[in-house]
Parts: sequence; C-alpha cells; structure tokens
Amino acid sequence: MEFSVKHGSVENQRSACFVVGVHEKHKLGAAAAALDAACGGVLSRTLKGNDIKGKVGDTLLLHHLGEHMERVLLVGCGKAGEALSAADYRKMLGAALAALKGTGAKDALLTLTELEVKERDLAWKARQAVELAGGVIYQFDQLKSKKEDKEKPPIKKVSLLVADAAAEKAAKEAVRQGQAIQAGMKLAKDLANLPGNICTPRYLAEQAEGLAKGSKKLKAGILDEQEMEKLGMGALLSVAKGSRQPPRLIVLEYQGGKKKDKPVVLVGKGLTFDAGGISLKPAAAMDEMKYDMCGGATVLGVMQAVAELELPLNVVGVVPSSENLPDGAANKPGDIVTSMSGQTIEILNTDAEGRLILCDALTYIKKFDPAVVIDIATLTGACVVALGSQASGLLGNDQALVDALLAAGQASGDRAWQMPLWPEYDEQLKSPFADMANIGGKEAGTITAACFLARYTKDYTWAHLDIAGTAWKSGNGKGATGRPVPLLMQYLLDRVTSDK
Ligand code: BES
Ligand code: MN
Ligand code: ZN
Repeated sequence: MEFSVKHGSVENQRSACFVVGVHEKHKLGAAAAALDAACGGVLSRTLKGNDIKGKVGDTLLLHHLGEHMERVLLVGCGKAGEALSAADYRKMLGAALAALKGTGAKDALLTLTELEVKERDLAWKARQAVELAGGVIYQFDQLKSKKEDKEKPPIKKVSLLVADAAAEKAAKEAVRQGQAIQAGMKLAKDLANLPGNICTPRYLAEQAEGLAKGSKKLKAGILDEQEMEKLGMGALLSVAKGSRQPPRLIVLEYQGGKKKDKPVVLVGKGLTFDAGGISLKPAAAMDEMKYDMCGGATVLGVMQAVAELELPLNVVGVVPSSENLPDGAANKPGDIVTSMSGQTIEILNTDAEGRLILCDALTYIKKFDPAVVIDIATLTGACVVALGSQASGLLGNDQALVDALLAAGQASGDRAWQMPLWPEYDEQLKSPFADMANIGGKEAGTITAACFLARYTKDYTWAHLDIAGTAWKSGNGKGATGRPVPLLMQYLLDRVTSDK
C-alpha cells in the first residue's frame, strides 16, 4: 500500500473514500463538518437519525453524497472536546481501516490525524496509521493454490490530510518510519507463518543473506555446525542433534554509526519447530510451535527496517536457529552439556531448549563489545499465563535499559511489562550434578528462564523479552503479529534522538 501526505481543505480533495471523524451527541469533527457543508447537510442529518452513535470504533459508510463524494466513511471518535487516549485512537483507526478494506475503494483520504490524542503528536498519529494499515491488509496466502476470491480490489493508496506545510513535513517523515516498521513486521510475520518444513534454519539463514544483499551497510555471516563445534557451543549443538536439519547461527551486522560506536546487539530465538524433543509436547496445537522462531524473525524484521531507514547506529542481529525434535540422537533428560561459556547444564526437560540455544549465542556476542544486548524469545508458556497477549515479559540486569524498553513499548503501543529478576529465584536452577539445571520447577517459569539467561549475560547490559504471548495469535484466526518489531524500532529511534 502506498502512503502519501497532503495538506489543504478536505472539500477540495479528490478521493474514492473520505474517512472522517464524528463525535458522540451528533457532533461532527472538523473534516466531517467541511464535507457536510459541501454536501448540503447530509452528514449532520444522518447523525440525527442515529445511524452512528459516534462511539470509538463505530463506522458507517455513506455513498454518493455529492459529485466528488463517491464514498464517505464516518468513524466514531468519542466525546467532542475530549482528547482520545492513545489506545482509543488505535482502536478507532483499526476499525476505520477494517471498514475501508470492506469497501470497493482503491484509494482513501484519511483525515483522522486531525483528532487530539493525549500526549501524542502528529508524527505518532501518522505513524500509527501506516503501521495499523499494514496489519489490516496483511494476508498470508502464498501457500494456497487458489487465492481467495478477491471481489473487492485492495486499497492501493492512502493519503493523510494534515493542516499545513509544516505538518506535512513532519507527517512525511513519520510515514517513512511507519512504512519501514510495517515492512519489518510483514517480514517477521511471513517468516513466522511459514511452516517448519519450509522455514528451516537454513531458510532463515538464506533470508538473512538476502537482506544483506539489499543494503551496503548490512553484512551477513552464517556459522555452521563445524564452526559452532570449534567455538564449543555444546548447548546449542545438543538441541540440534535430534534433528536432520543442521543448525545455523545467523549474524547480521549493520553499520550506520561510527566504527567505534558500540553496537546494540539483538539476539532472537530461531527455533523453527519445537516438538519438545524427548520431553515431547502434547499433540493439541503443536503446529503452533512453528512460531518458536518469532524472536529470530523479529531480529530480521528489525534489521531490515534499520537498514531501510539508514539509522545512524550500529546494530548487530544474531539468530541461533535449530529444530527441537525427538530422535535417537536427541538430548535425554539428565544429559549434561557444556556451554560455550564453560558452564555445565543438566538438561532435566528437553522442552526447555530455547535457553540452551540462546545461552551460547549470548556468550558468542561478547566479541562485538555491545553497548546493550536485548534478547527476544518465545521462551515460556508461563509468560502466556502471566501476561496473556497484551504485554511481552521484560526482565534485565540494568534498570535504565528496562525503563527505556518499557517507555518504547508505551510509545509504540507494543507494550512490555517488567518481572523481577531477584537472586532468590535463581536458586531454583540448582543442580546436584552440573552448574545449573535447565528448568527451575513449576513456579515462576518466566523468571527462572530469565535467571538462566542472566548467568550468561553478566558482562554486559542486558534485557530479555519473552514474547510467547505476544508474537502470535492462537486458535481461530491464528497467525503471527509482527511484535515486538514496533517496540524495538521505537527503542532504536529513541536512541538516535537521545544521540546515543
Ligand atoms: N517454545 C516454548 C515456549 C512456549 C510454550 C511458547 C507455549 C508459547 C506457547 C519453550 O521452548 C518451552 O517449551 N518452554 C517450556 C519450558 C518448561 C519445560 C520449563 C514451557 O513453557 O512449557
Ligand atoms: Mn520447548
Ligand atoms: Zn521452544
């Protein structure tokens, strides 16, 4: 979908669909009032008929109000004179875009950025429009032999109408950012929605190499089994042993800053299918474990967006990638492996494999002398129980980094919630036979998983995002969400503006 920004009065524009806000109690927003005047009061009469109440999320499509008004989509935006909350603005916009998709319009003019949103500026409103539009039009039908009937042509072009030239300039930059973020989310979703028999560790590595080809500032390096062996990545390799697909350690280096600038390092879990291994998972919904590479997909999506926006930062993306299957060569409960750090691990449950592939990647990335390290992983079912699909779990060894990520989550609408990483929890990982066990018992599963990772991240500033609940939707309408690409992009954009 193409986005553009214009300024001027709404009644002088041409569009297949004007999208305008109406408030409760029959009050028209500014753009709606201008159109109402242009069409002799049809809009205000429609409101009096109570066909639309003006509540946030209401929509009503009207046809042929005037010569150049083939369609007008009225969108409820709450009480007049009251700024919307950020969440309500997103809800309203989501409803408007979904309704727009159902029309036959090929293009649309969005005036909703005229609405006041609490503590948010025009740039935010414009960027949200682009990101949400990307979500609404997203389809994953590349593996269907017959594409679903498309009676309605897709919307090709959306224009945002803003007040004046200065606003147009600000909104254009926001649209540029929104488009890069949106494309990053699309890449993350496409990779995640692909099944395990297609999206293998080698496939992910090829995608990373493809990204690097598209940008001069991006370089890809792929480590294979032999190289991992040499580095002593016994934990990662132990997970891969049970699979016929060879593992990969994907490294993407983006240099947009000065050579000496320490990089932000992102490490994403790239488990392309998690059957649990010998500690086999139950059959129900096991297909959803193709999404166990969403952390890795997020890293690729972010790297693509960073390169597209040419951010003046250095960023390294690392994705340890493997399958986790039951097999004669697979890890067995009780097996003890030695990680690259030298620490030994007793594998009490082979289904706690994410931390095993991550711990070696987290040791490996020390060589980049990172400014900060953020790992992203669909790590624990416990996180889904604790936070559902609203917030990603967030833990870390540096409160300033955690606070920056929390703030980026709030600003982007892609929220995270902190959990404690107290030393008392770490005791649950004690093993009588090795330096640690790979599980910490029934209680506080998300925290003990993070405690495990914390044992490998002591030398740098680190945070962990558990995205098991946020990266995909389960059940009917299941699919990847593209989260937390927006959160991480916001964090990186914030680093640019805070000049470090
Ligand atoms: N990939 C799963 C985590 C997961 C489970 C994500 C369900 C989304 C939904 C991870 O590898 C796993 O299996 N974790 C175990 C850990 C346990 C054995 C300590 C879990 O959460 O059950
Ligand atoms: Mn598992
Ligand atoms: Zn897993």
